[in-house]
Amino acid sequence: MIETIHPAQNLSGAIRLPGDKSISHRWAMISALAEGKTTIHGYATGEDCHSTLGILTSLGIEVEDKGSEVSIQGKGLDGLQAPTRDLDAGNSGSTIRMMSGILAAQPFVSRIHGDESLSKRPMQRVMTPLAEMGANIVATNGKFPPLEIHGGKLKAIDYSTPVASAQVKTCVLFAGLFCDGDTIVREPIRTRDHTELALRMFGADVRSANNVITIKGRPHLTAKDLTVPGDLSSSAFFLSAALMIPNSNLVIGGVGLNPTRTALLDYLVGLGAGIKILNVGEQHGELVGDILVRGSVQRPGQISGALTASLIDEIPTLAVLGAATHGLDVRDASELRIKETDRIATVAENFQRAGIEIEVREDGFTVPGNQKFRAAQFDSFGDHRIAMAFAVASLVADGPSEIHRAEAASVSFPEFYETLKRITA
Ligand code: S3P
Repeated sequence: MIETIHPAQNLSGAIRLPGDKSISHRWAMISALAEGKTTIHGYATGEDCHSTLGILTSLGIEVEDKGSEVSIQGKGLDGLQAPTRDLDAGNSGSTIRMMSGILAAQPFVSRIHGDESLSKRPMQRVMTPLAEMGANIVATNGKFPPLEIHGGKLKAIDYSTPVASAQVKTCVLFAGLFCDGDTIVREPIRTRDHTELALRMFGADVRSANNVITIKGRPHLTAKDLTVPGDLSSSAFFLSAALMIPNSNLVIGGVGLNPTRTALLDYLVGLGAGIKILNVGEQHGELVGDILVRGSVQRPGQISGALTASLIDEIPTLAVLGAATHGLDVRDASELRIKETDRIATVAENFQRAGIEIEVREDGFTVPGNQKFRAAQFDSFGDHRIAMAFAVASLVADGPSEIHRAEAASVSFPEFYETLKRITA
């Protein structure tokens, strides 16, 4: 599908975003292992989180999917059934990596695969700790999906993750649910902690301090009635757009403000952006509030070290913002090369199409500021965040632009183009 995006004069209005993708995956998976029926309001509408629901269904879990309201009939820790077909994670790295922790502990064999992009993404990061716990996982060429997971009784481990990855942490903690005793994960950098918050909320004993997380095995998890906050990572597209287009005034309501995710807001405020946070409250252990944005950034951006890990999903749209404002330098970002696409390459390719200068390195890039986007034919390369980042770039181009393979946005945000058009009308 080709989406045509016109330059915008300003951006104004109030929007809400789909439910947070990271939280939706976790709440759905844990609900399946809890006793009783969990209802999740505001469940992420994107395809990724529906891949998770499809897999739970294949494992014998009753899922009632009414769009953004989902009910999951949990069967307890030992209630999953052997699937009769291969499990399909679609485009979702979170689904395959986090589910692997659960599947590795089951008394059956399962095979889990994904689409073309997922089939090229590395799985050793979860296979290594799961093998240490006693699981036998066979991967294509030793590292890629499909994974054939020979589940069984696992043993608790004390694992130091070499990569800063919340997916890996979650995989090990989920496997730890089925072990006797304490499973420990040590992270090199603090990553998003939705799993820890969710497990505690469902009744597990999870402790965390100084990037060390401990879970006590065999908890009794109980069903809940839940509402997912809006996805802060999806807000990045609208924040970038509002910060690039003069006289914009936007309110994004009911967004998740978990402190392990808000580096995005701190980063933008640090660049002088006019961002205010209002009406902050707590919902099921997660912070939620409204974001008000008015007024641009004043300085060039610098993203490196731990900040890179915290902003990893937002970097494509921050690159667009940097090009149109005061520039951006990104370092320590080799993880970008193994996301849904090689996001350094796909950002650079789209920049080139719009006449935007960028210096690319193996683990980052530098984009000079004050550049003008030429109207262009952009390509998502099948990556949702690239589709949306270049839809935002199109708003400041010198004529209408096209996003090819625009449908990729549906992986996390099916309503994206409609929402964008509403606030730029
Ligand atoms: C996610 C963690 C991050 C992020 C992804 C979602 C999660 O991946 O990029 O979009 O929900 O845990 P890594 O764990 O690979 O850093």
